[in-house]
Amino acid sequence: MQPGCFNFAGMESLSADVKNILGLQLPSDPRWVNLAELQLDEILTDHAYCEQKAATTCISLITKNSEKELLVEELAPIVTEEWGHFRMVIAELKKRNLKLGRQRKDVYVNSLLQFQKKDGSPQERFLDQMLIMALIEARSCERFKRLSEGLDDAYMRNFYRRFMESEAGHYTLFITLAEHYLDKKVVRKRWAEWLKYEKELMKEMEIRGDRIH
Ligand SMILES: [Fe+2]
Ligand SMILES: [Fe+2]
Repeated sequence: MQPGCFNFAGMESLSADVKNILGLQLPSDPRWVNLAELQLDEILTDHAYCEQKAATTCISLITKNSEKELLVEELAPIVTEEWGHFRMVIAELKKRNLKLGRQRKDVYVNSLLQFQKKDGSPQERFLDQMLIMALIEARSCERFKRLSEGLDDAYMRNFYRRFMESEAGHYTLFITLAEHYLDKKVVRKRWAEWLKYEKELMKEMEIRGDRIH
């Protein structure tokens, strides 16, 4: 297995428990890459908005959790990195004489948000925010890995490999932040619930070649 999504070598900062439990429960349908390959222009626009939302959400998490020093320190550079990703995708669109299309409805993220504990305690809501981000990063990483391995175009395989490597570190960061501020057992239990929910969601979702998720 390549470095990235499902290989935790070198991530010593994570507890052994997290290393054991982290990991998506359902791989993406292999047909997705073939569909995506036929609509790469659409994938690029959808991808650009994934990066924009990652940057925007990190800014929002910083402003809502300004008292959490480690979170502010760790997420500030992620904002820069995600915005850099957005710019890389915009540059690729420009190279192809394409403009950034309008933002699309994000069924995957909207469906994840439905599982949030909306009436939970501040700690429970914070935990869900961290774990949603971890899941989105993990699934994005897995999708980029698929593109980096399955596309015919060597340039685009390499393009997506760079994203995959970058996103691989992000999802572990959100788990690490949750563990820093909350009881590890609580984090582990809720993460298992999220993984189960995401597995069922992936089973139900339509496979679309014009979406990253
Ligand atoms: Fe990114
Ligand atoms: Fe990311």
